[in-house]
Amino acid sequence: MEVTGILFSCLIGLILILLYKLYLFISTIRQTYQLFKDAPGPKKPKPRALGSGYRELLPWIGEGLLVANGNRWSRSRRLLTPAFHFDILKPYTTVYNESAEQLIEQVSKYADTGESFELFQVISSCTLDVILRCAFSYNSGCQQSGNLLMANDFAFNLTRKGKQFRQHCKYVHDVAEEIINKRRKELNEKGVPTRRYLDFLDILLTAKDNDGIGLTNLEIRNEVDTFLFEGHDTTASGISWILYHLAKHPEHQQKCQDEIDEVDDLTKLEYLSMCLKEGMRLSAPVPGISRQLSQEVEIDGKKLTAGTVIIPFMHLLHLNPKIWNDPLKFDPLRFSKENIKVMDPNCIGQVFALNEEKVVLARFLQRFKLELDTKHILMKEFALISRSENGIRILIKERRG
Ligand code: HEM
Repeated sequence: MEVTGILFSCLIGLILILLYKLYLFISTIRQTYQLFKDAPGPKKPKPRALGSGYRELLPWIGEGLLVANGNRWSRSRRLLTPAFHFDILKPYTTVYNESAEQLIEQVSKYADTGESFELFQVISSCTLDVILRCAFSYNSGCQQSGNLLMANDFAFNLTRKGKQFRQHCKYVHDVAEEIINKRRKELNEKGVPTRRYLDFLDILLTAKDNDGIGLTNLEIRNEVDTFLFEGHDTTASGISWILYHLAKHPEHQQKCQDEIDEVDDLTKLEYLSMCLKEGMRLSAPVPGISRQLSQEVEIDGKKLTAGTVIIPFMHLLHLNPKIWNDPLKFDPLRFSKENIKVMDPNCIGQVFALNEEKVVLARFLQRFKLELDTKHILMKEFALISRSENGIRILIKERRG
C-alpha cells in the first residue's frame, strides 16, 4: 500500500512539474507546520492550477467554502459556522440512525445468501441519503432505488468524462436551484419551520453578515453542492475503509461489538472511536490537499517562491515511520486518550462526519459479523477521495442467527 502511494505521488508530481510550474509534496509534520504556522485556515490560497484538484471542482461546486479564497472564504466560513453548531447537529442523529437502518435492510440479503458484496456503493448510497436529508430535508429514497442524484463516482471520473461531467453539473445545479427557490419562498411566507429540525439550507438562507446581507442564490447553491460533495463521498470512503480494516482484523471487530452490546451512548463508544481514527489514518479518505504560496516560505531550510503549489499529502504523512511506529499495523490504541494530540483541522464538517460514521458503523457492527472476501484483490486508488478501483468486497453473517 505504501509503495503504491509513493509511486503514485512521484508519478503525479512528475507530470505536474512537467505540465505546469513547481509542485511540492510534503509528508512530515514539520513541513506541514512550516507551511501552515503563520496562516491558520486556507489563507494560503487554494490553487487554481491544472491538476490541483480545486480547479477541477470549480464547474461543480463553484466558489463554495472548499475552493474559495481570501475575503470570500472568511465571509462564507463565518456565515456557515452556525450550520455546524452542536444544537443544529443534534437532531441529525435520528437521520443517521434511519439511514443506517435502511442500509442494513438493503444488505441483509447477503447475510442470507452468504454471497460477498461491494461495500463502497451501498455505503455511498447511505451517506448520500444522510446528506440530502440533513442539507435539504430531502428524502430521495436513493438507497432503495440505487438511483444516486449524482453519479456515485462523480469526482473520480472528472478527467475521463468531461462532457458527462458538465451534463451532471447542470442537472445538479438545476435541481439545487429549484429546491433553494422553493424553500426561500416558504421561509418568506411562513418563517423558520418549527415542526422539523433545521437543515443546512434553512441556516444558509437565513444567515446574514454584520451589514445584514445574506447569501445570494448562487452562493447558496455553491455551498450546498460543496456539502453534497464533501459531505458524502468523504464519509462513504471513511466508513467503507474502516469496515474493511475491521473485517481484516476480527479481534478488533469483536472488541467493538462487545462495546456496542454493552453501551448505548455514542459518546461512550471509545474503542469504536479509536478504530475509526486508526482506519482513517491507514486509509485517509482525502489523501491530499494543496495550497499555493502567496509569499516566499521556508520549508526544511529551503526557500520556496510565491506561486509554488504545495501538496500536504496526508496519505504519506499517515504512513511516515518517523511519526508512527510500525505504520502499516492496524493499532487503534495509537488513538487512546493518553496518546492523542489534538490537531486544528480545517474541515468544517468534522463533528458531523464523526457522528455519522460512528452511528453507521455501530449499527452495522451490532447486526453483522464481517469477513473479507479473500478472492477479491483490492486495487487501491487515490483520487480526490481514496477508494478501491474495483471496490471493496466483504461477506457478512447475522450475529444473532
Ligand atoms: C470522513 C469525512 C471527512 C473528511 C476526511 C474530510 C476532510 C476534509 C479536509 C482534509 C478538508 C480540508 C481541505 C482543504 O483545506 O483544502 C476539508 C474541508 C472541508 N470539509 Fe470536510 N471532510 C469530511 C467530511 C465532511 C462533511 C460531512 C462535510 C459537510 C457536511 C464537510 C465539509 C467540508 C467543507 C465545507 C470544507 C472546506 C472548509 C474550509 O475551507 O473552510 N466535510 N474536509
